[in-house]
Amino acid sequence: MDEEALLEAARAARGYAHAPYSKFAVGAALMDEQGRIHAGCNVENAAYPEGLCAEAVALGHLVLAAGRRITAVAIVGTGPRLVTPCGGCRQKLREFAGDDVPVLVGDTTQLRARFTLGELLPSSFGPEHLA
Ligand code: THU
Repeated sequence: MDEEALLEAARAARGYAHAPYSKFAVGAALMDEQGRIHAGCNVENAAYPEGLCAEAVALGHLVLAAGRRITAVAIVGTGPRLVTPCGGCRQKLREFAGDDVPVLVGDTTQLRARFTLGELLPSSFGPEHLA
């Protein structure tokens, strides 16, 4: 897996963020089971709760391209704290990813931390529960 390409796609997507309210731009990139990369940025809304996280936008792109599984995730944001996926996005990612999937957290210049989805969302509820 080309981690640098995935982070770079998240950085490029972050450049399109529509974040006039928080001014907090985020980019995300997902690798699918075919090795393709699908990216997204956050898209805020004047009706605040209607805003979309970068991960959710990237997920829409993956599904629309007929991707079935997420094999790696990259999130890019800036600031003193790591920009890890929010709780809701952890669950959204879980729909298409297992515990072992790497979640790379970076900023505009470097990889800052590496998690697995299982670390970020332990004992999760997923599609297997409904099978
Ligand atoms: N945000 C994301 O896009 N992804 C995350 O994982 C964390 C938060 C966005 C949502 C909102 O537009 C802004 O960051 C501030 O919360």
